[in-house]
Amino acid sequence: MTTQSALITVMTRAARRAARGLLRDFGEVEQLQVSRKGPADFVSQADLKAERTLREELERARPEFGFLMEESGAAKAGDGRHRWIVDPLDGTTNFLHGVPHFAISIAAERDGELIAGVVYEPLRDETFWAEKGQGAYLNQRRLRVSARQQLRDALIGTGIPFMGRGNSAESRRYLAELGAVMGAVAGIRRWGTASLDLAFVAAGRFDGFWEHGLGPWDVAAGIVLVREAGGFVSEVEGGSSMLASGSILAANDHLHGILGDVLRKAGKA
Ligand code: IPD
Repeated sequence: MTTQSALITVMTRAARRAARGLLRDFGEVEQLQVSRKGPADFVSQADLKAERTLREELERARPEFGFLMEESGAAKAGDGRHRWIVDPLDGTTNFLHGVPHFAISIAAERDGELIAGVVYEPLRDETFWAEKGQGAYLNQRRLRVSARQQLRDALIGTGIPFMGRGNSAESRRYLAELGAVMGAVAGIRRWGTASLDLAFVAAGRFDGFWEHGLGPWDVAAGIVLVREAGGFVSEVEGGSSMLASGSILAANDHLHGILGDVLRKAGKA
């Protein structure tokens, strides 16, 4: 039996509590699909409610931590050393459309370094968690990134630019990247929840993942998961400012290099 630290216990408890409300609301969303107004307002309320629950729980347990949250931004400074980075509902578009693939993502940062991450997928009751130096786990099972060495065997997750990024240089670069990767791999998936994409890399379900334009709350917890599962994470361009740039490439050691080369070559062409 794996013992969780007090920090991970705080994070998983908060995620599970917020998830109870999200699960109830997800049930409602299916009913709202057919109404003329649609579920958009309802879903943004569900998102805000989850964020409030997470904030209350995390603040009570660790009053010294500041917050960076998707809905309320840099909500509280804290002691200036510790910070939660939280996405109360990652996969909002899936949730809004009744697609059963979304998660709560919580990361803990100390002195600018990510030290713990929890990604909770309430529908399958899967808790992906990791703490710096302690490994990555799915519920009680230790996680390792996949051992695949060849792109032709690899299943790769990605995120496709959407509304507002239609005909930009960014989307043209993305199409070039997609074109280069899709012919070289066993399959590509766009599942719409970046925190889970990274958790799936940590679990060896995906062999790699790349996306641009993400928020820090989408990736912070997943970065800890992939690293602690023995994988590599960088910006697609190779740098290490993923939280600031929103560009991310994650994979096992070997495929990280190969996939990165393919993406950078395509992006420059
Ligand atoms: C989104 C998801 C999605 C990614 C988007 C994100 P949200 O987060 O992670 O997979 O492609 O760029 O914005 O808005 O559902 O928290």
